[in-house]
Amino acid sequence: MLQSINPTQTKSWTALSEHFSVMADVHMKQLFSEDPKRFEKFSIRFSDILIDYSKNRITDETLKLLLSLAEECQLKNAIDSMFNGETINQTEERPVLHTALRNQSSQPVLVDGKDVMPEVGSALAKMKAFADKVTGGQWLGHTGKPVKYIVNIGIGGSDLGPAMVTEALKNYNTFGIEAHFVSNVDGTHISEVLKKVKAEETLFMIASKTFTTQETMTNANTAKTWFLSQGGNQTDIAKHFVAISTNQESVVDFGIDPDNMFVFWDWVGGRYSLWSSIGLSIACTIGYDNFEQLLIGAFEMDEHFRKTPFEKNTPVILALLGIWYTNFFGTETEAILPYDQYMHRFAAYFQQGNMESNGKSVDRSGQKINYQTGPIVWGEPGTNGQHAFYQLIHQGTKLIPCDFLAPAISQNPIGNHHSILLSNFFAQTEALMNGKGWDEVRDELAQAGKSESEIEETAPFKVFEGNIPTNSILVKKLDPKTLGSLIALYEHKIFAQGIIWNIFSFDQWGVELGKVLATKILPELQDESPVQSHDSSTNGLINTYKIMIRD
Ligand code: F6P
Repeated sequence: MLQSINPTQTKSWTALSEHFSVMADVHMKQLFSEDPKRFEKFSIRFSDILIDYSKNRITDETLKLLLSLAEECQLKNAIDSMFNGETINQTEERPVLHTALRNQSSQPVLVDGKDVMPEVGSALAKMKAFADKVTGGQWLGHTGKPVKYIVNIGIGGSDLGPAMVTEALKNYNTFGIEAHFVSNVDGTHISEVLKKVKAEETLFMIASKTFTTQETMTNANTAKTWFLSQGGNQTDIAKHFVAISTNQESVVDFGIDPDNMFVFWDWVGGRYSLWSSIGLSIACTIGYDNFEQLLIGAFEMDEHFRKTPFEKNTPVILALLGIWYTNFFGTETEAILPYDQYMHRFAAYFQQGNMESNGKSVDRSGQKINYQTGPIVWGEPGTNGQHAFYQLIHQGTKLIPCDFLAPAISQNPIGNHHSILLSNFFAQTEALMNGKGWDEVRDELAQAGKSESEIEETAPFKVFEGNIPTNSILVKKLDPKTLGSLIALYEHKIFAQGIIWNIFSFDQWGVELGKVLATKILPELQDESPVQSHDSSTNGLINTYKIMIRD
């Protein structure tokens, strides 16, 4: 059981509020000039990853108070409770053990007194045997051809993780197998994917923890009908459809052979499931050995999170910085900006990871919360974002803390592309921190030959206040192990924040209402008669839709 501790009632929170009044107007430029060792002090090297958090609006005192907030909120106990398999997802009465999926130690992980590691090991062994066959060209379709296309059908956590990782590690796909992902119930999604694949060379992976999700089951049925229309028969389904789920009964009902079912467990949250069988599409495209490296990287981060004192603990530091801005500076969003095209789905992945986990407004005692919790997470790869939304980050009215991520070594070293990319990566955080003051702008305009009145007129638009916080995460190379560590880093950041905010991070009741209403509305769309049972807006929309499709 996790304790319920209101963070705002702690001594550290009060002290942080007082400290904030001092720090609110302190410029980072000043902090850097006062302390030449700021980078050494506020950066951590973890394996091939450097995390530089020195460009934050913090001092030693800020960090001290944030660390004592973590202590007062009993973060250490909570970490132990998670890793030890306690029922910390209390509203769903489950432990939270995605960490067991990547546990490389010989330590047992107990759920209700039973070690789950043997089951995890056999699920991974089954994945490996299957992935080796697929990547080795030995899994044959009904016409005897090997698999060329994988179509993963899933949504949310059963889509975003595998989609993000297969993109991020695309360069490790040396087997010539194309991965496609269908998630949206909009028929356009599956239609467009089916145009790109050939049924006899396609393996469909129906990925759904519950195997009841409307979007996934609708797409899965469409895929089955399409497959049967392309020359395959019922018996051939066994060669072209596999299921990844916790729900064997529904898998069998759908017509998938239980031998072709890859299991996982209810103690793996959907948005934390890429480490489980849900990662089958990853293993079948980059190869099982690379998938294993991903697990190893995550395990190393797990060990670091579990065992490192908080002042050197990277997920804890990132979590505390996020809390500093969210709860004291009043920021509402956080940007994730990878300077790596391969990571173009990374922000989208952690949008679910973060917002579905920490988008909560009731605390662990069931009380309405009167402080801010999870931020809005968003982002796009650099340098694209620079030409789209960075203007607002640099000169808008909102304070937006940003994480910048980049690999030192490019996997596609063409000409000077990577130096240009990285020069932008370094330049942006420097610019966001320093800004551009009045004196600098005036000098520049004067040097450009502007008159005093022209300078007065133009200068205000060219001033950048700076003082915008950033974390820079520089990795040696985006290989599977490093990616595994990075994902685990962000997962644990979310966990640590959820503990301090005194919320339950592993349920998602908020997505239920819309689902229930959609189920009620669906039959109302089938006949022409106008509806009257909703509010006037919903009635108006539905009835106009009915007229539009009729006329
Ligand atoms: O949107 C809610 C949710 O339950 C997510 O948490 C989950 O990742 C997604 O739906 C898909 O669920 P399933 O894997 O059961 O199809």
